[in-house]
Amino acid sequence: MKTVSLTIDGKEIRAAEGDKILWAALDNGIYIPNLCTLRDALQPAACRLCFVEVEDYSQPVTACTEPVREGIVVNTRGAKALRLARTGFELLMASHPVDCAHCPANRSCELQVIAHHLGAKLKTKRFRKILRQLPIDYSNPLFIYDPNKCVLCGKCVWVCRERLGIGDLGFAHRGFERVVTTFADEPIGKSRCQDCGECVLACPTGALTFKDNQGIVESGCREGMETAAAQ
Ligand code: SF4
Ligand code: SF4
Ligand code: FES
Repeated sequence: MKTVSLTIDGKEIRAAEGDKILWAALDNGIYIPNLCTLRDALQPAACRLCFVEVEDYSQPVTACTEPVREGIVVNTRGAKALRLARTGFELLMASHPVDCAHCPANRSCELQVIAHHLGAKLKTKRFRKILRQLPIDYSNPLFIYDPNKCVLCGKCVWVCRERLGIGDLGFAHRGFERVVTTFADEPIGKSRCQDCGECVLACPTGALTFKDNQGIVESGCREGMETAAAQ
């Protein structure tokens, strides 16, 4: 694949033409908030957190969908992009129960990385807090599913269905009621889940966590934590 030059935050880098700006940035140690995308997945831009500004564009664009082109100049810290990302993040957190000190994902959670990066609070007061009160599913021998901490990023669903071909997880309902559930809406331990734990590794929050807390450091958010910490 052809390699091109582009500039992100004043740093000249090289990346494969057509790759997405998000991956070009992350590969070069430049953090952009993101929740809903995987490198091998064609997912719709759902979380709306990865806004960046591109020179000569009138509006910010989502870095996970915008392709790399020769000579483009990207600013991840532009005021418009950050405002959009902060608003999206605070809206998301308005329905998220924040109890980090007691959460198995504490210190490996992508929400914490994003809050730090955006200078936003996890406990936002900007929007009215409306929490779901859904039962936590302890039925799987390996992991716990807490739907209240799910941000509906879709990573677990994609991994289970597309990468592994199992298809046990999916979305049900719409709007505020939208939730990740199993094929027949059974507890995970009674579903056709094969206990591989790949969904847990993909989950960026405390919604899916291993019972023995092992593997959390292997989760997709570790890359984000290291990149954000280095900036
Ligand atoms: S999922 Fe993340 S933000 Fe939410 S309580 Fe757990 S560690 Fe905190
Ligand atoms: S359970 Fe985790 S990976 Fe699955 S949609 Fe919710 S936050 Fe995303
Ligand atoms: S990572 Fe780009 S919209 Fe979610």
